[in-house]
Amino acid sequence: MSYSRTEIRVAAISAAVAAVMLAGATAQAEPKDSTLRGETPIDLKVGSAVWGQNQLLDFDPENPTEFQSILGEEFDSVTPENDMKWAEIHPEPDVYDFSGADAVVAFAKANGQEVRGHTLLWHSQNPDWVTEASDDWTCEEARDVLEDHISTVVSRYAGDIYEWDVANEIIQDTWDDGGVKLRTEANPFLKACSEDPVGLIGDAFRWAHEADPEAVLFLNDYNAEGVNEKTDAYYALAQELLADGVPLQGFGAQGHLSLMYGFDESMQANFERFADLGLQVAVTEADVRMPLGEDGNPTEEQIALQAERYDGMLQACLNVPACSSFTVWGFDDGHSWVPGVFDEGYATIMTEEYEKKPAYFALLDGLSDATPGRSPRTPPGLDK
Ligand code: XIL
Repeated sequence: MSYSRTEIRVAAISAAVAAVMLAGATAQAEPKDSTLRGETPIDLKVGSAVWGQNQLLDFDPENPTEFQSILGEEFDSVTPENDMKWAEIHPEPDVYDFSGADAVVAFAKANGQEVRGHTLLWHSQNPDWVTEASDDWTCEEARDVLEDHISTVVSRYAGDIYEWDVANEIIQDTWDDGGVKLRTEANPFLKACSEDPVGLIGDAFRWAHEADPEAVLFLNDYNAEGVNEKTDAYYALAQELLADGVPLQGFGAQGHLSLMYGFDESMQANFERFADLGLQVAVTEADVRMPLGEDGNPTEEQIALQAERYDGMLQACLNVPACSSFTVWGFDDGHSWVPGVFDEGYATIMTEEYEKKPAYFALLDGLSDATPGRSPRTPPGLDK
């Protein structure tokens, strides 16, 4: 009798769940020196989001907090969860506040990590001055404000950022008013330039590229994992931008999943079609949330299914050589955005007490299977 890779993986996940259930909080199944970053193929970065303003301002390399030690040991890459968003970094028209973003970059340097920039053009978390002024903007005015912002922020971190989410969530969903189309109502910049939104998006990439020619520039969105109407629209947009000579270089699927919905098995096929356009792809914000029982705890089945979903996203990435980074949106439930926004929880790979969940071990195993010492995706002879 033979078993497929998936069957073996699912069996391993079930065994890990059983072990965690039996052993309780104290036991660690893996030796201490086994970490996600240690097992990651040389041509892939494994990352986590972190809120610099809240978690890293007090960073002292000689005396890190437990959270900081884990972030440094487990990950190759960090994404500022909020610190580079407009409301944080550009709170007033003539005021930039780089404190949180600087803390993320300094932490990454101290730990030999890369930084994913997030984000330059988005409809959410904009400061009041943008929201208020934008009603009266001409397209020319909106362009000037956006160009100043992109040039200032991207050039400050030029050389420190390997991938930038230039444009985030710029396409609506099927369930939004108007259906799948560019977000020309909610996004203040696209709204001001609604006569030629693609021209503005293209210029946003051009301004970012001018400020940091080394950074790989991404489109990024949720509900963008599988082949669907929204990703079809992204595919068409990417083709249009590339035909215009825009320096678009990557497509990111956020990977915010919920166990309330199924897993879209077309994720790898979706990544492959963007890779065929010559783009890099990435999983940029992975988490897997779930509705919890009255006691606030997940069931054994949910814990196992969560591990499978994380693994499903990782496999889609590992199987596509153009997939350059796999980032979780926070690594522990104590710092997850999920409970504040959804009526769900348990979304990350570690508990509030930093206990590793089966989802963590699913990622660890998936990464080490892909890397027997080094990556099969990378020419032999190169060590990480
Ligand atoms: C979230 C942060 O995690 C929260 O702390 C913040 O309050 C709201 O934004 N898609 C994105 C991320 O691109 O920037 C969002 O991050 C989550 C959804």
